[in-house]
Amino acid sequence: MISPEIQDAFNKQINRELYSAYLYSAMANHFNNVNLKGFANWMRIQTDEELAHARKMIDFVNNRNGRVIYEAVDAPPSSWESPLSVFEESYKHECFISESINEISSLAMQKKDHATHAFLEWFVTEQVEEEANADDIVQQLKLVQDAPGALFILDREMAQRTPAPAADGAA
Ligand code: FEO
Repeated sequence: MISPEIQDAFNKQINRELYSAYLYSAMANHFNNVNLKGFANWMRIQTDEELAHARKMIDFVNNRNGRVIYEAVDAPPSSWESPLSVFEESYKHECFISESINEISSLAMQKKDHATHAFLEWFVTEQVEEEANADDIVQQLKLVQDAPGALFILDREMAQRTPAPAADGAA
C-alpha cells in the first residue's frame, strides 16, 4: 500500500510527465511549421517517451493499490523564436523534472518506502540522459546558429532518431 504523501507526489509527477509530453508535442508542431522536419521527428519521439514515463508511474501507483487522480494539464507555448530557444527551454524543463523526481526519492527515503525508492532509480538515471540529450543539442545549435546550411545538416541528423526500447514503457 502506498502512503497518501507518496501517492500525492506521484499524482503531481504524473501531471508533470503529461505536461512534458504536451510541451514536446507543441515543440514538434512548431518545428513542422518552420519546415524543420528532422527536429519535429526528434520531438515527436520525445513526446512518446514522456507518455511512457507517465504510464510507468500510473502502473506503479495502481499496482500498489494507490489512486491515480488526474488534474488539468497546463497549456504549453505554441511557438518559439529559434531552434536554440526551443532546446534551451527543453533543457531547463528537464532540469526541473530531475529536481522533482529527486524530491519524491528523498520523500520515499524519509518514509522508508523502499519499493518507491527502488522504482525511482530508473527515473533518476533516465534524467541524467534526458538532461544530457537536450544540452548536447543546445551546444550544437549554439555552434551553428548563424549558419543555415549547418542547421539543415543537423535537421537531417535529428531525422535519424528512432524510438528507444524504453519508450514503450517496458523498461
Ligand atoms: Fe519524463 Fe523528460 O522526463
